[in-house]
Amino acid sequence: MNIVILGGTKGMGRALARRCVEHGDRVFLLGRSEVDLQRSAVDLDLRAGLGSAPDSTPRSCVARCDLEQPEGFAAALDAAQAHFAGAAIDAIVVTAGVFATQDELESDPARTERLLRVNFTNTVLFCEEARKRLLAQGGGTLCVFSSVAGDRARKPVVLYGASKAGLSAYLDGIDHKFHGQGLRVLCVRPGFVKTGMTAGLKPPPFAGEPTQVARDVRRALCGRDPRTVLYTPWIWQLVMGVIATLPRAVMRRINF
Ligand SMILES: NC(=O)c1ccc[n+]([C@@H]2O[C@H](COP(=O)([O-])OP(=O)(O)OC[C@H]3O[C@@H](n4cnc5c(N)ncnc54)[C@H](OP(=O)(O)O)[C@@H]3O)[C@@H](O)[C@H]2O)c1
Repeated sequence: MNIVILGGTKGMGRALARRCVEHGDRVFLLGRSEVDLQRSAVDLDLRAGLGSAPDSTPRSCVARCDLEQPEGFAAALDAAQAHFAGAAIDAIVVTAGVFATQDELESDPARTERLLRVNFTNTVLFCEEARKRLLAQGGGTLCVFSSVAGDRARKPVVLYGASKAGLSAYLDGIDHKFHGQGLRVLCVRPGFVKTGMTAGLKPPPFAGEPTQVARDVRRALCGRDPRTVLYTPWIWQLVMGVIATLPRAVMRRINF
């Protein structure tokens, strides 16, 4: 597969990029730090068996793309299409996103505005650019990392969860509207996963590893899996199924 990943320099995105190249996919990385992109590209080359040692030759399979700068989205995706030289892009994946605790966000409106803009408004704008290109080439998969936090409002993640709830609703909508034209939408909803994003938080039961998520997501990308929503690790589908049934009075009493 030819795959573009925005957010592949860290956490679950990095694990997914690694898994993809180890299975023979060609990966083009988008991210906001040129240094991180180049370091990640060298790492991927080594894992793909394309280089014997890290070197200082700049890799061409990367381009800058900052979710705070939507004016750069088109150029970043142009660079990805140019890299694949006319071959179709099988999947565009967005793992990039930001997190902050509910206390941090409640005490800092500017930080709240930034999180909502990055996780929702600008991610949607990026997806709009991406889905137009996938449709123009006859179809393809748009795979975006939302979160279980968007499934049901919970006290510790009211604002972050709202950004992901909006994103999940948008992904559901474009699946309805464009599925018949060849767009496949995959909304990934990780549970708690141990990455830099969650460092410092107490892992709950069923906390997952990025490698598990990478395995689940790649399997869904390359198969003919009809799902449009993927919970990963899978146990979180069960957990969220239970949480969805809790009455409001119970949700008010528990600190969850
Ligand atoms: N970890 C969890 O428990 C969990 C649970 C549910 C959902 N999620 C979601 O899953 C996705 C991946 O999370 P993760 O845990 O792998 O996070 P992570 O390790 O913190 O990685 C986040 C990635 O997003 C990139 N990013 C952040 N802001 C960006 C911006 N303005 N422009 C472009 N890239 C930007 C980061 O790049 P830099 O290195 O440049 O910062 C990094 O590559 C996120 O959308 C997150 O909300 C995570």
